[in-house]
Amino acid sequence: MSCSKRYISTPIYYVNDRPHIGHVYTTTICDVWARFQRLLGHDVFFLTGTDEHGQKVEQSAEARGVTPQALADENSAEFRRIMGMFDLTNDEFIRTTDPRHEQQVQALVKQLMDSGDVYLGTFEGWYDAGQEEYYTETKAREVNHVSPISGKPLERATEENYYFKLSAYQDRLERMFEEHPGIVRPDARRNEVLGRLREGLQDVPISRTNFAWGIGVPGASEHVIYVWIDALFNYITALGAAEPGSEWHEDRFGYWPASMQVIGKEILWFHAVIWPALLMALKLPLPACVYAHSFWISEGQKMSKSLGNFIDLEQLQSYMEAYGSDALRYFLATQGPLGATDADFSRSQFHETYTTDLVNTLGNCASRTSAMIGKYCDGVCPEDTGECAGGGVEWEAFTSEQVEASISSMDRFDLSGSIAAAMTIVRQVDAFINDTEPFKLAKDPDASGKVASILYRCAEAIRIASCLLEATLPDRIHQLRESWHLGSPSGELRTECAWGRLEAGTPIDKVALFPRVETS
Ligand code: MSP
Repeated sequence: MSCSKRYISTPIYYVNDRPHIGHVYTTTICDVWARFQRLLGHDVFFLTGTDEHGQKVEQSAEARGVTPQALADENSAEFRRIMGMFDLTNDEFIRTTDPRHEQQVQALVKQLMDSGDVYLGTFEGWYDAGQEEYYTETKAREVNHVSPISGKPLERATEENYYFKLSAYQDRLERMFEEHPGIVRPDARRNEVLGRLREGLQDVPISRTNFAWGIGVPGASEHVIYVWIDALFNYITALGAAEPGSEWHEDRFGYWPASMQVIGKEILWFHAVIWPALLMALKLPLPACVYAHSFWISEGQKMSKSLGNFIDLEQLQSYMEAYGSDALRYFLATQGPLGATDADFSRSQFHETYTTDLVNTLGNCASRTSAMIGKYCDGVCPEDTGECAGGGVEWEAFTSEQVEASISSMDRFDLSGSIAAAMTIVRQVDAFINDTEPFKLAKDPDASGKVASILYRCAEAIRIASCLLEATLPDRIHQLRESWHLGSPSGELRTECAWGRLEAGTPIDKVALFPRVETS
């Protein structure tokens, strides 16, 4: 892939929910990807934000005796605070109550009305007045046309709504999946959507009249635009899509189409079907990939309010305090539910992953190598004399293979695959030290050339692995860069990972990257 623009987005989060592991997870994995693309030299735009309209927000605000805007301001600030707390490097934090977003949503809906993709239609159905809810014909028959909640008869009611002509996009959407199978990933999720798509599409109402907290339909302000339509548009309003000539448009619209739109599996339909259809209607290109991850569960159980077992910010903070923020990032990126199955967040697995991979492998290898360079080479990087005995590793070819594997896994959003390739280098260094035993050779004055070569190769391989791990472990790799006087990342990851860039004579100070943590 050539160096160019990359755009990654998270879902925008509802302000009527407290931030929890789900929000931190999605944003963190996007952050790892965004940082990695920046290290590769790409020009990255990383977007996250909050979804602030809709009936639920209106109701929560009413229950608390505050205005919906006040509730949105308070909770959006909380989401924004976590971006700082977890050192997330989003380039923009969009709020759907931002007037720039609201005006653009109206302009986009107007465009759809003008093209005939949005029309005013009448809906007739069985209405439960107490619940303010329509029942489908089947459900109404099931309950004998009586509300199971209030006991009152369902009413035959009609309602005028604006509709999006989703049904007109059936063929184009099916073709999209045939021609660009990678547009929805993982594969299992794409097949799920395709199955449902083949059952046939109906037009979708995109306006509501039973509450007020939303963006008015242009020219019909008694209707508010359905919160999902308002929310989906954030991905392009943040780029100034409907503000031609503006600075946002000039600076940002070039990032569209998105490279990666990361979401949770529960909001797949909106992103894999309705969103592409809206883009087709607006004659805009489609994102390269919508990636739907699965869910974290907690200690083997689904997280729910009633069980009170949500992994909340306080818990995540306590992990960060005990293990460091990089440890949390590493756990989320390597053990998370990126595939089609859910993943368990358990204290014991967190501890084990930290200890095995970060303390015993990466930390130990860097500390062993720097300690030996301290002891046998006066703390400066030795020269590779070429006199290396044993090991049988073709370091240049081996590391370059792992570098390519790490980069291509990241391109596919396979974070754990990318990290695993870097860790393969580290494990190889460990095996090489055990094999060649520089600590024994060092006792023989004639073997000093061999010791130098071995230690150069260890340090150089660790340096290359660390470049690949920097997006996941920014804090500790920064520490390693300082201790080993490696300078700042250049934005040329491939060049930086070329074998032999570590210069003999570079001071290599001793490092202890990951302290052992005792469990209570
Ligand atoms: N506002 C909508 C999205 C609109 S995007 C145009 C929404 N918001 S949300 O606050 O409910 O956030 C949902 C997202 O949080 C999920 O898609 C997922 O990214 C994340 N998670 C919520 N719970 C989760 C888990 N238990 N595990 C992992 N991530 C989950 O839906």
